[in-house]
Order: sequence, then structure tokens, then C-alpha cells
Amino acid sequence: MVVSSAPGKVYLFGEHAVVYGEPAVPCAIERRARVTVEARDDDRIRVHAEDLSLNGFTVEYSDGSDDAPDVDVSESLVQAGIGYIDAAVEQAREAAGEPDAGFDITVESEIPLGAGLGSSAAVTTAGIDAGTRELGVELSAAEVAERAYRAELEVQNGEASRADTFCSATGGAVRVEGDDCRAIDAPDLPFVIGFDGGAGDTGQLVAGVRALREEYDFAADTIESIGDLVRRGEQALTAGDVEELGELMSFNHGLLEALGVSSRSLDQMVWAARDAGALGAKLTGAGGGGCIVALDPTDSTETALDYTPGCEDAFRAELDTDGVRAEAE
Ligand code: PMV
Repeated sequence: MVVSSAPGKVYLFGEHAVVYGEPAVPCAIERRARVTVEARDDDRIRVHAEDLSLNGFTVEYSDGSDDAPDVDVSESLVQAGIGYIDAAVEQAREAAGEPDAGFDITVESEIPLGAGLGSSAAVTTAGIDAGTRELGVELSAAEVAERAYRAELEVQNGEASRADTFCSATGGAVRVEGDDCRAIDAPDLPFVIGFDGGAGDTGQLVAGVRALREEYDFAADTIESIGDLVRRGEQALTAGDVEELGELMSFNHGLLEALGVSSRSLDQMVWAARDAGALGAKLTGAGGGGCIVALDPTDSTETALDYTPGCEDAFRAELDTDGVRAEAE
């Protein structure tokens, strides 16, 4: 039996603009998905999942069988949940050259689903790591990142950036520009996260930005401005200038708001953080609902978010310098 874990992430800067080739800077956070994998002596896969925003469910299936999963939650939820695990299993089988390996898999995640914190990337990354180790193969973080990216591409019909999976596999702060992914130095960052209990539809939000960009030159300019802001933000990050980072994060939120991807609850949480004296605050990920990330070394933002209408959960999350790792073998 192997247990592996991998971190979620926030976007310090650059979501949406990264789709058009601008750089983005995601940072791993100390909220993890843990995947336990135990090889079976048949080719079946049994998945039991526990997630912060899901009631637990268990499904058992095998390739080529017609058995409908016997579960008590909607089929689309099950499909979303097991799609990534299934793709991770395929990658682990391929890496180990064991196409018929069967597994009992348990997923436990501290990362809300679909809320901009990279839960699917963390589950996929940890799943590939645990699955390959269980079959006696040890991949480097870069190899896990590559396979996790391929798994996401498959599940998301060819629409995935490398940002989430690379960040989850390697940990720390990362710079992503097209296929170029690299680690960047970052100081400890005092992240505070606010979660509205919801999720955005990434595909729909990305399509909305694409339509605006095609209709208005100034929307295209806004996307380029986000790229300029990210380049400036990288300098602030490596210089350890947390005040400037905060200012640029707030600026980034304004530009994302202009592109139509914020929401009332996200804006309410951003304003609560600003009023509480946070160094900066912005939505993270696709938007539409989900999470904001603020920088505040004091307790003020977390306390303010606890009392903000629309905020369901507020918590601190330090930068996680560790990527995917085995917890037990
Ligand atoms: O919400 P998330 O964590 O899936 O992030 C989406 C980020 C986008 O830039 C909007 C899309 C992408 O694939 O980069």
C-alpha cells in the first residue's frame, strides 16, 4: 500500500491571460489531496472518495464492464470525481508497463472542488505518484507533472494548461508561459483564502473571455496588461517585496473583474480583505465563484472573512515548498 499527497495552489497572478500565452505565477499551498493505492489481484478499480465539498462516495468498476457505478450521488458528480482518478490510473499503468493492474483507491482532499485551488491536479498528481510506486516504479516530480498534464488533457478534452499539474508536482512558486514551466524563488507568503462554497464553470468562463477579446481591442489590451503585471510581479516576488505583491494582486483582480470573471461573492470577499487591511486580494483560478486569495500576516482578514456574507470558509494557507510526496510505503 502506498499513500502519496500533493498540494493545491493559488494563482498569485495571471489566470486567463495564460491561455493567450502570457506568463502566470501559481503557488502551491499547504492544503493537500492524499491518495492511498493498494494493488488488487484482479483488474478492477475501486474508488472511495472523501472531499471537503463532496459527500463521500465509493465506486467499483473495471474496463470493458457494463456495470453502472452503484452510488448514491448524481452520475455527473461521480464522472467528474472519478474521471481524473481513472486518467491517473491509466498513466500509472502505462508508466509501469502493467496495463491490467487493478487498485483499491482512497482519495481524501482538503481542497474544495472546482474552486480555483487546483483540487483535480492535486488528486491526479498524487494518484499517479501512488499508483506507480505501488507498482514498483518511482517517477521524478517532472515525470509526474508531465503524466498528470496528459491525464488532465484527456479529461478536459484537450483544454488544460500545465500550470496546476506542474505546481502541484513540484511545489513552491512556479512561472508558466506556454510549455515553459520553471520554479521561481519566493519568500514565505501569508496567504488567507476565502471560499464562497461554490464553483465556477472554467470552460464557460474561458469562452466568455475569448468572446470579449475578439469583440473589443481594449479587452485584448487588458489581457496584455495582465501579462505586463505578471512580469512586474515576478520581480517583486524574487525581491521579497510583499507590499508590492499585494498591490499588484489587487490590480490583477480589477483587470479580471473587467474581463467579467468575478462574481458578487468573490468581490464581497475581496472588499472585506481590503477593508481589513490586507496587503492585496484577488480571485484565484477561473472565477465565477470559488475562492479568493489575500495576503495578510495578521489575523484581520481571516476574521473579517468569517463575518462576510457569501464567505463560507476562511483559512490561512502558507506557501508549500513541497510538491508531490510519498507519505507511506
Ligand atoms: O480554476 P482553475 O484552477 O481550473 O484555473 C483556471 C485557470 C485558467 O487560466 C482560467 C484556465 C487555464 O487552463 O489556465
